[in-house]
Order: sequence, then C-alpha cells, then structure tokens
Amino acid sequence: MHQCHKHCTSPPIRHNLSLMDSGETYWNDRALLEWQVELGATEAILDAPVDRYALEAVKPVPKAAPAAAAPQGKPAPPEPVQTDAVADARAAAEAAADLGALAAAMQAFEHCELKKGARSFVFCDGQPTARVMIVGEAPGREEDRAGKPFVGRAGQLLDRMLAAIDMGRAHDDPARAVYITNVLPWRPPSNRTPDAGEISMLLPFLERHIALADPDVIVVMGNTPCQALLGRTGITRMRGTWVEVLGKPCLPMFHPAYLLRNPIAKREAWADLLALNARLKG
Ligand code: URA
Repeated sequence: MHQCHKHCTSPPIRHNLSLMDSGETYWNDRALLEWQVELGATEAILDAPVDRYALEAVKPVPKAAPAAAAPQGKPAPPEPVQTDAVADARAAAEAAADLGALAAAMQAFEHCELKKGARSFVFCDGQPTARVMIVGEAPGREEDRAGKPFVGRAGQLLDRMLAAIDMGRAHDDPARAVYITNVLPWRPPSNRTPDAGEISMLLPFLERHIALADPDVIVVMGNTPCQALLGRTGITRMRGTWVEVLGKPCLPMFHPAYLLRNPIAKREAWADLLALNARLKG
C-alpha cells in the first residue's frame, strides 16, 4: 500500500493516515511527511508546482491577426484587446509624477493576481525624504492586516537593528530616518516567495518608487529585492558588498526574517549595519 519514495525529489504527500493502518505504516508515513516538511513543503498540491499565473504574466502577447475584412455593409469586428502586463506597469509607473500618484497607479493596476487575495495594498512606511531606502520582499500576514511594511516579528527586528545605529523609520532627525517599501505591495498566499513573473511585472513600479523617493543609499534585504534590482540572487555571497543600482549605492543585507531563523548570521548583519552607517557618515 505504501511505497518508499526515498530517492524521489518530490514524493507525494499522503493525507489520509487511517487509524486502521498498522503501526509500522503509520510511522513510515509520519517520517515521510516530516521529511516533506523539512524540505519546505507547506501545501499538498501536485508533484511539481506549476505557476500558471507567472506563465501568463510574462508570456509575450502575440500580435493579433489583422481583423478580417468586414463583409460589405457590415461594421468591422472589434480588434481583440491586447495586454502586456509589464508594458502597462511601465507606462503607469512612468506617468506617476509623485509618490501619491505612484501609489494610486499601483492600486489601479489590475494584472497582478495577488491583489485579489490580499486584504491591503502595502506601499511604504517611514519618511520619503530619508537618505536610506530599504527594500524588502512582500507583505506578510501582519503587514497585510496593518497596511504597512515590516510590522510583524521581522519588522520589529528590523527596527531594533536600525535603532542600534541610531536610525529608524520615525527618527526625529531626517538624516537618520529611513524609508521602507517592498518589491510587491500585495501579500503572496501563505507568504510564499514571489515568483519571477510577479517580480518582473511589478519592477517598473519599484524602479519608479526609487526614482521618486531619490534616496542617497538603497538597502536590499534578502534575495527577492536582489533578484528584482540586481538581477541575481545569492544573498549569502552578495551581502555586505556595495553595488550600484539605478545609479545609487546599494547594500544587500540578510532579510530580518532570515536572521530570526538563523541568529548566528546577526554577526554579519551587524557588520553590514556598521558599513551602512560609515557610508552615511563618510
Ligand atoms: N517581510 C518583508 O520583506 N516585507 C515586509 O513588509 C514584511 C516582512
């Protein structure tokens, strides 16, 4: 009844552990399930995940065939509507003259499916005139409830990290204030990592956000903003090394949620905070 899938990369998860199963089968099943959880499985779906939304989002829209000539005396059939989500995002972002207009343009953007499942649109927090702009990944449950980025446990750690170098989103001194946003303004279901389609679709808004806020320094926290703004991931190697993004110095750092799971990495995060402070002071 039960097959061992030890060498399979994605064995199916069994859901119906019957009380009638023998004890041995129960423990085998349980071990298999625990192994799945250790691998990071959070939902039972297919053997291989298929992100149909991403495929739709990034797929170039084929040019519509020219409308067939209308028979004489009849009106021509309407041209099919063409949508290219990235081009629409770029046009909407470029048309936004200030941060308020950008927020409105993002809220009016209908191509991102995440919007349908999210409770709030999460745009920013902190001071838009700050010298430092922090870019995180996406709202989580607490942020979705509050409508503000970084208010959950990771956000509280971020606040403590910033306070350690006398900075903060509500700092009295504008020179020590920060401005915070995320790659995505809507919470992905079950806090899953944003996919490539979502990141590239919303990137024009993030780039415009940075241009309008015009910080002196950008801090990208974790792999998702690295993917969006630097075009690559590998935060463990990239953190602590200054790069240039949109003509500005940019420091990749560990995401505070990662630091909560891996407190040992706080040592590197502290070194990065000192590097940020030195850059601002220098
Ligand atoms: N993690 C993020 O990347 N952003 C948030 O706003 C909250 C948690």
